[in-house]
Amino acid sequence: MQSALAWERSTVSDKRVLLIVGGGIAAYKCLELVRLLRKSGIAVRCILTKGGEAFVTPLSLAALSEDRVYQELFSLTDEAEMGHIQLSRSADLVVVAPATADLMARAANGLANDLATTALLATDKPVLMAPAMNVRMWNHPATQRNIATLAGDGISFVGPDDGAMACGEFGPGRMAEPAAIFVAIMERFTQEPASQDMAGNLPLKGRRALVTAGPTVEPIDPVRLLTNRSSGKQGFAIAQALSALGAEVTLVAGPVALPTPPGVHRIDVETAIQMQAACQAALPADVAICVAAVADWRPAEEGALKIKKGPDGPPAINLIENPDILAGLAAQGPNRPKLVIGFAAETNDVEAHARAKLTKKGCDWVIANDVTQPGVMGGEDNTVLLVTPEGTERWEKAPKSDVAKLIAIQIAKALT
Ligand code: CTP
Repeated sequence: MQSALAWERSTVSDKRVLLIVGGGIAAYKCLELVRLLRKSGIAVRCILTKGGEAFVTPLSLAALSEDRVYQELFSLTDEAEMGHIQLSRSADLVVVAPATADLMARAANGLANDLATTALLATDKPVLMAPAMNVRMWNHPATQRNIATLAGDGISFVGPDDGAMACGEFGPGRMAEPAAIFVAIMERFTQEPASQDMAGNLPLKGRRALVTAGPTVEPIDPVRLLTNRSSGKQGFAIAQALSALGAEVTLVAGPVALPTPPGVHRIDVETAIQMQAACQAALPADVAICVAAVADWRPAEEGALKIKKGPDGPPAINLIENPDILAGLAAQGPNRPKLVIGFAAETNDVEAHARAKLTKKGCDWVIANDVTQPGVMGGEDNTVLLVTPEGTERWEKAPKSDVAKLIAIQIAKALT
């Protein structure tokens, strides 16, 4: 298996991003964004505004981007090396992060009074902005007017997020997490014809993916069940993200109240035994991702009649172990998917438990999360560790849909 950690040069390795770092507290997050982009083989060239320099040093940006950082409009050295017009066109995508209220206002009005706004006015490339500002500034009609103007000019946006801000207020205005900006950039690149093959195919075109999601329910009697907590959101998001990259996806789902993602073939099951049978029937597959919270045990017998309360107190329920679907898929011999991925929902020693599961279950990667973190169980966000034989990557907190897209991108890289 090729390591996804290495982000081998494939679909995006020829891409170049011009990153304009504006003057906001969120500027420090750009360092992580530059790291993510460089790791995937994307060239990054940075323009640092005067305001941005108050929050992040040119040296950190230069070190991470492995390039010089451009700051001055009227600089003989800069112009001699690369004129500002050339700079504005030297990338496939211009990203502004953080896009402050002031920077967006100037860009919306076509001002060109520093290098950043001059580059924005001179560029002929698509522009993606990640706004970041105080909630009142964001809600101000002037800012909303500017955003409408910029959107009308064809500029696209990622974020802002809702949440607690550095200024102590709460609401929309917080810059999208670096992982979310990275995903937005990758989406643009992977949808571009240049990132597809000669026939215009998506990176997972022709690949088969199997995803398990949701809980299983194990009947005790006709009215009682043994089950696990699981909303199915992360698994469904992964099925959707894989399908969006062109994979033919079979989603084997326990009982959850979620719509089937477009283009995905969904098989609904209840018990672990049914889930296992559906997975076996879905083989062969290039990749299997077991996100389901499978009940570890099931009652040895399902009573045909409802167990009644009696004078002897609660009944003893005799449990037997369910098959391990993930371990079974990893031990398929010639029918084994090239990439078998497990999930580990842990409450403590997350990395150690995840690494132990990698070995015990014979899978290639384990994606682990700490379910004691607020909002993970049933919530919209996830903070995960990607554990592989080569090492561990910690991903920042991001919406489950973005985590899913990142996983799909990693899978596409590993399978090419
Ligand atoms: N899994 C599976 N079949 C099972 C149990 C788990 O396919 N019978 C898969 C899950 O979908 C997940 C991974 O194994 O991808 C880890 O699940 P988890 O419940 O964390 O692990 P367990 O093996 O049940 O270990 P423990 O409950 O002791 O932590």
